[in-house]
Amino acid sequence: MAAAHRIEVLHGVNLDMLGRRDPRHYGEGGRPLSLLELERRIESFAADQGLRVRFFHTNAEGEMVARLHRLADEADGAILNAGAWTHYSWALRDALEIAGVPTVEVHLSDVESREPWRRVSVFDGLCVAKISGRGPDGYRMAMAQLRRTLDGADE
Ligand code: DQA
Repeated sequence: MAAAHRIEVLHGVNLDMLGRRDPRHYGEGGRPLSLLELERRIESFAADQGLRVRFFHTNAEGEMVARLHRLADEADGAILNAGAWTHYSWALRDALEIAGVPTVEVHLSDVESREPWRRVSVFDGLCVAKISGRGPDGYRMAMAQLRRTLDGADE
């Protein structure tokens, strides 16, 4: 049997504060959801898809760039919620392009229907999919997408 695909879930700036952010955007059913609770949920989504999962969080842009530089050595696919960096960090776009690892962009909240600046994504055209406004379930959809992409890549 082939080894399970390795998925790295990358949490960007302010994602560690999820449990203290507006639950209407970042919670579930109106109640706050912590990053730890989200990660437990993501682990079960990965198990359902037969994927191995690892998490990385940082609030330092340079650390995220460095993580992306090493990503290809340690992961077959990635899920990236870069938080507000999504909307302006061209350095992260370049680093993700260098990584060359199939990546799904995820946002818990619906970035299309909030402030106009959240509609901009520096990752446009680089990711295999963008999922926004589905809450934690967006990560389940992202895992399923990566499973399809990586299985296809194996053929
Ligand atoms: C976010 C949306 C971003 O606009 C915001 O800056 C975040 C979180 C989301 O998951 O909905 O920090 O990426």
